[in-house]
Amino acid sequence: MCDERSDPSWGESQSGSRKVYIETFGCQMNKSDSEHMLGVLDEIGYAPTDEIKEADLMILNTCAIRAGAEDKVYSYLGYWRKLKAVRPDALIAVGGCVAQDGGQSLLSRSPGVDIVFGTHNMHRLPELVLQARKSGKPQVEIFQELPDDLPETPVVRRNAVSAWVSVIYGCDYNCTYCIVPYVRGREKSRPPALIHQEVLELAENGYKEVTFLGQNVTAYGQDLESGMHLGDLLALSGQVESIKRVRFLTGHPRDLSCQIIDTVAQTWNACQYFHVPVQAGDDRTLRRMARGYNVDYYRALVERIRERMPEAGITTDLIVGFPGETEAEFMNTVNLVEELGFDSCNTAAYSARPHTPSANWDSQVPEVEKLERLRLLNSVVSNVSHRRNKPYLGRTVEVLVEGRSQRNPERLTGRTGTNKVVNFEGKADLIGTLQDVEIQAANPWALRGTLCRQGCAMARTPG
Ligand code: SAH
Ligand code: SF4
Ligand code: F3S
Repeated sequence: MCDERSDPSWGESQSGSRKVYIETFGCQMNKSDSEHMLGVLDEIGYAPTDEIKEADLMILNTCAIRAGAEDKVYSYLGYWRKLKAVRPDALIAVGGCVAQDGGQSLLSRSPGVDIVFGTHNMHRLPELVLQARKSGKPQVEIFQELPDDLPETPVVRRNAVSAWVSVIYGCDYNCTYCIVPYVRGREKSRPPALIHQEVLELAENGYKEVTFLGQNVTAYGQDLESGMHLGDLLALSGQVESIKRVRFLTGHPRDLSCQIIDTVAQTWNACQYFHVPVQAGDDRTLRRMARGYNVDYYRALVERIRERMPEAGITTDLIVGFPGETEAEFMNTVNLVEELGFDSCNTAAYSARPHTPSANWDSQVPEVEKLERLRLLNSVVSNVSHRRNKPYLGRTVEVLVEGRSQRNPERLTGRTGTNKVVNFEGKADLIGTLQDVEIQAANPWALRGTLCRQGCAMARTPG
């Protein structure tokens, strides 16, 4: 939002006298929230560190989507408690979706925690830290919903090329497996003028890519009187010349309208990439999940995208072992992945979550069965992704260079507009620029290529 403090060095001590370490689980929204936590803490003199052992404040920004993510929270807190035994002055704070749900109970389950704050009151973090230091007593503050007068908060961004911009908070759906509406509340769109202002500031600060975020970003504007929708935001960002790419995450199939698809097709810097979670390829399962569409509706949506943009990247989320899912219904999901040829899929075994109706259904699929289904689905997903990546061989693609590859620091890494990860050799001064890369190898997860100096003769895919 306002008051930009980009920090490409991240790990180095800044002007602040104290240091804060944040561990973030979960979705991009949570990662973006962590950047805002750093922003508000900067105002009381806390500088980010990558070294937990030198931190005066350790924050765990948690995710509650599956039981595994929640379990991880308690094992981290166990380890952090040991660190605190050596540095008793260090504070431990727990925020995010597990904190929103657990509140006070986190203190009894995890002694040593000093602050518990939720998803609707991150702007209050500095006050809670100061109070915890002053009083020496644990502070717990959870808001039931986002305040109407939510202040814009400063931000310290992790990446100097690509920026996340939250445009809508919460979710108005009630999928029968999902805890998100419970921990993130109802949909609330940020005013378009503030979003556009943030995009302009990002452009001024040298950012090249913006990703609009929301638990259901395609519903942007439905709660606004102006009638503004996500397509309008994309079109507006199309007027900002130095922002070379605009993306959005995560959409719901029901809200991915023709207007949004058409605007992506017509807007020069809107990336031809759609993450549209289908969850299952079976009508009875989709009905019981309360997703509000059937498989034919979803097929038609994918067709519409591909008619307008044949090269578009399309990815999805899938759940296996939903209560009552039969073997044949699971195979319908596998077959849909084959049929629609997703570029990639996030897959997960169903996890029973508190506050969700399906957690109490007595038709739970046994754990071993869920894992077996997951293994089979993952192998099909990997084959299909490989099939989708192979046609890139020999072609030249435009890559926004985002940084050094973590696996091989000799290499640079970036993405195509269609969201394919591309690794190649090159110098650090290319970071933040658009480069043509000729693709020479394709695996299911990424492409590898060579930087194209002038005169690349190969066919070019859309940026
Ligand atoms: N708003 C998005 C999804 C956000 S949650 C949508 O409607 O599709 C991110 C993903 O977590 C979901 O797409 C789903 O695949 C997965 N997920 C949510 N609840 C889950 C549960 N109880 N068990 C397993 N996976 C779950
Ligand atoms: Fe959860 Fe997405 Fe359904 Fe909302 S639309 S309840 S975030 S799966
Ligand atoms: Fe997890 Fe909360 Fe995101 S539950 S997926 S961090 S909205």
